[in-house]
Amino acid sequence: MSFFKKKKKFERVLPRHIAIIMDGNGRWAKKRSLPRSAGHSAGSKNFKTIARYCNKIGLEYLTVYAFSTENWKRPKEEVDNIMNILRDYLKDAKNFKDENIRVKFIGNISQLDEDIRELIDDAERESADATGLRLNIALNYGGRDEITNAVREIVKEKIPYDEITEETVSEHLYTAGQPDPDFIIRPSGEYRLSNYLIWQAAYAEYWFSDVLWPDFGPKDLERAIDDYNHRSRRFGGI
Ligand code: IPE
Ligand code: IPE
Ligand code: MG
Repeated sequence: MSFFKKKKKFERVLPRHIAIIMDGNGRWAKKRSLPRSAGHSAGSKNFKTIARYCNKIGLEYLTVYAFSTENWKRPKEEVDNIMNILRDYLKDAKNFKDENIRVKFIGNISQLDEDIRELIDDAERESADATGLRLNIALNYGGRDEITNAVREIVKEKIPYDEITEETVSEHLYTAGQPDPDFIIRPSGEYRLSNYLIWQAAYAEYWFSDVLWPDFGPKDLERAIDDYNHRSRRFGGI
Protein backbone atom coordinates (compact mmCIF):
# COMPACT_ATOMS: atom_id res chain seq x y z
CA MET A 1 0.00 0.00 0.00
CA SER A 2 1.38 3.40 -0.94
CA PHE A 3 2.09 6.12 1.59
CA PHE A 4 -0.77 8.22 0.21
CA LYS A 5 -3.33 5.48 0.66
CA LYS A 6 -2.34 5.01 4.26
CA LYS A 7 -2.59 8.71 5.07
CA LYS A 8 -5.79 9.44 6.97
CA LYS A 9 -8.25 11.98 5.62
CA PHE A 10 -8.13 15.26 7.59
CA GLU A 11 -11.03 15.19 10.03
CA ARG A 12 -12.52 18.44 11.18
CA VAL A 13 -12.62 18.91 14.96
CA LEU A 14 -15.35 21.10 16.40
CA PRO A 15 -14.37 23.41 19.23
CA ARG A 16 -16.32 22.36 22.31
CA HIS A 17 -17.38 25.93 23.07
CA ILE A 18 -17.68 28.81 20.59
CA ALA A 19 -18.33 32.38 21.74
CA ILE A 20 -19.50 35.07 19.32
CA ILE A 21 -19.57 38.86 19.66
CA MET A 22 -22.61 39.73 17.53
CA ASP A 23 -21.35 43.10 16.36
CA GLY A 24 -21.99 45.32 13.33
CA ASN A 25 -25.80 45.60 13.28
CA GLY A 26 -25.73 49.41 13.19
CA ARG A 27 -23.24 49.60 10.31
CA TRP A 28 -25.20 46.94 8.40
CA ALA A 29 -28.28 49.19 8.61
CA LYS A 30 -26.37 52.36 7.78
CA LYS A 31 -24.96 50.78 4.61
CA ARG A 32 -28.56 50.24 3.50
CA SER A 33 -29.78 53.68 4.65
CA LEU A 34 -32.00 51.94 7.20
CA PRO A 35 -32.55 52.85 10.87
CA ARG A 36 -30.30 51.06 13.37
CA SER A 37 -33.35 49.14 14.58
CA ALA A 38 -33.48 47.34 11.22
CA GLY A 39 -29.91 46.23 11.82
CA HIS A 40 -30.82 44.82 15.22
CA SER A 41 -33.78 42.94 13.73
CA ALA A 42 -31.56 41.48 11.02
CA GLY A 43 -28.94 40.61 13.64
CA SER A 44 -31.53 38.84 15.76
CA LYS A 45 -32.72 36.83 12.76
CA ASN A 46 -29.15 35.81 12.04
CA PHE A 47 -28.62 34.82 15.65
CA LYS A 48 -31.44 32.27 15.29
CA THR A 49 -29.95 30.94 12.06
CA ILE A 50 -26.51 30.51 13.62
CA ALA A 51 -27.84 28.95 16.84
CA ARG A 52 -29.84 26.41 14.84
CA TYR A 53 -26.87 25.68 12.63
CA CYS A 54 -24.60 25.12 15.64
CA ASN A 55 -27.16 22.72 17.08
CA LYS A 56 -27.38 20.88 13.78
CA ILE A 57 -23.63 20.31 13.52
CA GLY A 58 -23.49 19.06 17.11
CA LEU A 59 -21.71 21.93 18.84
CA GLU A 60 -21.84 21.54 22.63
CA TYR A 61 -21.72 25.19 23.79
CA LEU A 62 -22.44 28.48 22.05
CA THR A 63 -22.23 31.79 23.94
CA VAL A 64 -23.43 34.95 22.21
CA TYR A 65 -22.98 38.57 23.28
CA ALA A 66 -26.38 40.24 22.96
CA PHE A 67 -26.13 43.32 25.23
CA SER A 68 -23.21 44.55 27.31
CA THR A 69 -23.12 46.45 30.61
CA GLU A 70 -21.72 49.33 28.52
CA ASN A 71 -24.54 49.30 25.97
CA TRP A 72 -26.79 51.33 28.35
CA LYS A 73 -24.80 54.35 27.11
CA ARG A 74 -26.78 54.21 23.86
CA PRO A 75 -29.84 56.41 23.27
CA LYS A 76 -32.88 55.19 25.20
CA GLU A 77 -34.75 54.61 21.97
CA GLU A 78 -32.13 52.12 20.77
CA VAL A 79 -31.94 50.33 24.13
CA ASP A 80 -35.75 50.02 24.18
CA ASN A 81 -35.68 48.67 20.64
CA ILE A 82 -33.11 45.99 21.56
CA MET A 83 -35.13 45.01 24.66
CA ASN A 84 -38.28 44.71 22.56
CA ILE A 85 -36.51 42.43 20.09
CA LEU A 86 -35.43 40.37 23.08
CA ARG A 87 -39.03 40.22 24.35
CA ASP A 88 -40.19 38.91 20.96
CA TYR A 89 -37.45 36.32 20.94
CA LEU A 90 -38.27 35.14 24.46
CA LYS A 91 -41.98 34.85 23.74
CA ASP A 92 -40.93 32.56 20.94
CA ALA A 93 -38.30 30.69 22.92
CA LYS A 94 -40.32 27.49 23.09
CA ASN A 95 -39.15 27.02 19.52
CA PHE A 96 -35.76 26.35 20.96
CA LYS A 97 -37.18 23.68 23.23
CA ASP A 98 -38.70 22.01 20.20
CA GLU A 99 -35.28 22.16 18.62
CA ASN A 100 -33.68 20.61 21.70
CA ILE A 101 -31.60 23.73 22.49
CA ARG A 102 -31.03 24.52 26.17
CA VAL A 103 -30.89 28.24 26.80
CA LYS A 104 -29.26 30.09 29.70
CA PHE A 105 -28.83 33.80 30.27
CA ILE A 106 -25.56 35.12 31.65
CA GLY A 107 -25.17 38.64 32.96
CA ASN A 108 -26.76 40.91 35.52
CA ILE A 109 -30.37 39.89 34.90
CA SER A 110 -31.63 41.53 38.11
CA GLN A 111 -31.32 45.00 36.50
CA LEU A 112 -33.72 44.15 33.68
CA ASP A 113 -37.44 44.88 33.55
CA GLU A 114 -39.58 42.45 35.50
CA ASP A 115 -41.48 41.11 32.50
CA ILE A 116 -38.17 40.28 30.78
CA ARG A 117 -36.90 38.53 33.91
CA GLU A 118 -40.04 36.42 33.98
CA LEU A 119 -39.73 35.55 30.31
CA ILE A 120 -36.10 34.57 30.90
CA ASP A 121 -37.11 32.29 33.78
CA ASP A 122 -39.73 30.65 31.56
CA ALA A 123 -37.31 30.14 28.66
CA GLU A 124 -34.66 28.61 30.91
CA ARG A 125 -37.16 26.37 32.66
CA GLU A 126 -38.91 25.25 29.50
CA SER A 127 -35.67 24.32 27.78
CA ALA A 128 -33.94 22.81 30.85
CA ASP A 129 -34.33 19.21 29.66
CA ALA A 130 -33.05 19.82 26.16
CA THR A 131 -30.02 17.67 25.38
CA GLY A 132 -28.70 19.47 22.29
CA LEU A 133 -26.78 22.72 22.05
CA ARG A 134 -26.19 24.63 25.30
CA LEU A 135 -26.85 28.22 24.33
CA ASN A 136 -25.70 31.02 26.63
CA ILE A 137 -27.05 34.47 25.87
CA ALA A 138 -24.94 37.22 27.43
CA LEU A 139 -27.34 39.97 28.39
CA ASN A 140 -26.44 43.01 30.47
CA TYR A 141 -23.17 41.15 30.60
CA GLY A 142 -19.74 42.55 31.39
CA GLY A 143 -16.66 40.53 32.24
CA ARG A 144 -15.55 42.96 34.95
CA ASP A 145 -19.05 43.05 36.41
CA GLU A 146 -19.06 39.23 36.43
CA ILE A 147 -15.72 39.02 38.26
CA THR A 148 -16.77 41.73 40.75
CA ASN A 149 -19.96 39.80 41.39
CA ALA A 150 -17.94 36.58 41.92
CA VAL A 151 -15.70 38.33 44.49
CA ARG A 152 -18.77 39.57 46.34
CA GLU A 153 -20.25 36.06 46.42
CA ILE A 154 -16.99 34.55 47.66
CA VAL A 155 -16.78 37.10 50.47
CA LYS A 156 -20.44 36.58 51.34
CA GLU A 157 -19.85 32.84 51.63
CA LYS A 158 -16.91 33.57 54.01
CA ILE A 159 -14.56 31.27 52.10
CA PRO A 160 -11.16 31.48 53.87
CA TYR A 161 -8.76 33.57 51.76
CA ASP A 162 -6.09 30.83 51.61
CA GLU A 163 -8.63 28.37 50.24
CA ILE A 164 -9.52 30.55 47.26
CA THR A 165 -8.21 29.06 44.00
CA GLU A 166 -8.78 29.78 40.32
CA GLU A 167 -11.50 27.12 40.45
CA THR A 168 -13.23 29.01 43.28
CA VAL A 169 -13.42 32.08 41.05
CA SER A 170 -14.58 30.08 37.99
CA GLU A 171 -17.30 28.45 40.06
CA HIS A 172 -18.67 31.85 41.03
CA LEU A 173 -18.94 33.19 37.49
CA TYR A 174 -22.19 33.11 35.50
CA THR A 175 -20.65 30.29 33.45
CA ALA A 176 -19.98 28.07 36.49
CA GLY A 177 -19.75 24.41 35.55
CA GLN A 178 -19.19 25.12 31.86
CA PRO A 179 -15.98 24.70 29.88
CA ASP A 180 -14.15 27.90 28.87
CA PRO A 181 -14.68 29.04 25.27
CA ASP A 182 -12.18 27.47 22.89
CA PHE A 183 -12.87 29.85 20.06
CA ILE A 184 -14.04 33.47 20.11
CA ILE A 185 -15.38 34.98 16.91
CA ARG A 186 -15.85 38.70 16.33
CA PRO A 187 -17.29 39.90 13.04
CA SER A 188 -17.55 43.58 12.01
CA GLY A 189 -13.85 44.43 11.75
CA GLU A 190 -13.21 45.33 15.39
CA TYR A 191 -10.25 43.75 17.16
CA ARG A 192 -11.23 43.84 20.80
CA LEU A 193 -13.09 41.85 23.45
CA SER A 194 -15.30 44.72 24.66
CA ASN A 195 -15.45 43.24 28.17
CA TYR A 196 -16.59 39.82 26.92
CA LEU A 197 -15.73 36.69 28.92
CA ILE A 198 -12.45 38.24 30.04
CA TRP A 199 -11.72 35.56 32.64
CA GLN A 200 -12.88 32.63 30.51
CA ALA A 201 -11.03 33.86 27.39
CA ALA A 202 -7.58 33.35 28.93
CA TYR A 203 -6.62 30.58 26.48
CA ALA A 204 -9.21 30.94 23.73
CA GLU A 205 -8.31 31.12 20.06
CA TYR A 206 -9.60 34.23 18.25
CA TRP A 207 -11.06 34.82 14.81
CA PHE A 208 -11.89 38.22 13.39
CA SER A 209 -13.82 39.00 10.24
CA ASP A 210 -14.89 42.14 8.40
CA VAL A 211 -18.34 40.68 7.69
CA LEU A 212 -21.07 42.48 9.65
CA TRP A 213 -23.05 40.27 12.03
CA PRO A 214 -26.38 40.17 10.09
CA ASP A 215 -24.42 38.83 7.09
CA PHE A 216 -22.30 36.36 9.06
CA GLY A 217 -23.81 33.08 7.89
CA PRO A 218 -23.07 29.38 8.36
CA LYS A 219 -20.48 29.53 5.56
CA ASP A 220 -18.52 32.20 7.44
CA LEU A 221 -18.76 30.11 10.59
CA GLU A 222 -17.46 27.06 8.73
CA ARG A 223 -14.54 29.12 7.40
CA ALA A 224 -13.73 30.14 10.96
CA ILE A 225 -13.97 26.55 12.24
CA ASP A 226 -11.71 25.43 9.41
CA ASP A 227 -9.14 27.99 10.52
CA TYR A 228 -9.51 26.82 14.13
CA ASN A 229 -8.55 23.36 12.93
CA HIS A 230 -5.18 24.66 11.83
CA ARG A 231 -4.29 26.24 15.18
CA SER A 232 -1.78 24.70 17.54
CA ARG A 233 -2.97 25.12 21.11
CA ARG A 234 -0.14 24.74 23.61
CA PHE A 235 -1.53 26.21 26.83
CA GLY A 236 1.96 27.22 27.83
CA GLY A 237 3.43 23.79 27.11
CA ILE A 238 5.53 22.83 24.11
C1 IPE B 1 -24.17 44.91 17.97
O1 IPE B 1 -24.22 45.77 16.89
C2 IPE B 1 -25.44 44.90 18.77
C3 IPE B 1 -25.30 45.43 20.13
C4 IPE B 1 -24.20 45.92 20.65
C5 IPE B 1 -26.47 45.40 20.97
P1 IPE B 1 -23.95 47.33 17.05
O2 IPE B 1 -25.23 48.02 17.35
O3 IPE B 1 -22.84 47.56 18.01
O4 IPE B 1 -23.48 47.69 15.58
P2 IPE B 1 -22.35 48.71 15.17
O5 IPE B 1 -21.09 48.29 15.87
O6 IPE B 1 -22.80 50.07 15.62
O7 IPE B 1 -22.25 48.58 13.70
C1 IPE C 1 -20.03 44.50 21.92
O1 IPE C 1 -20.28 45.36 20.86
C2 IPE C 1 -21.29 44.13 22.62
C3 IPE C 1 -22.25 43.33 21.85
C4 IPE C 1 -22.07 42.89 20.63
C5 IPE C 1 -23.46 43.01 22.53
P1 IPE C 1 -20.19 46.95 21.02
O2 IPE C 1 -20.54 47.53 19.70
O3 IPE C 1 -20.95 47.40 22.19
O4 IPE C 1 -18.63 47.13 21.33
P2 IPE C 1 -17.70 48.42 21.19
O5 IPE C 1 -18.42 49.55 21.85
O6 IPE C 1 -17.49 48.65 19.73
O7 IPE C 1 -16.43 48.02 21.86
MG1 MG D 1 -20.82 47.67 17.78
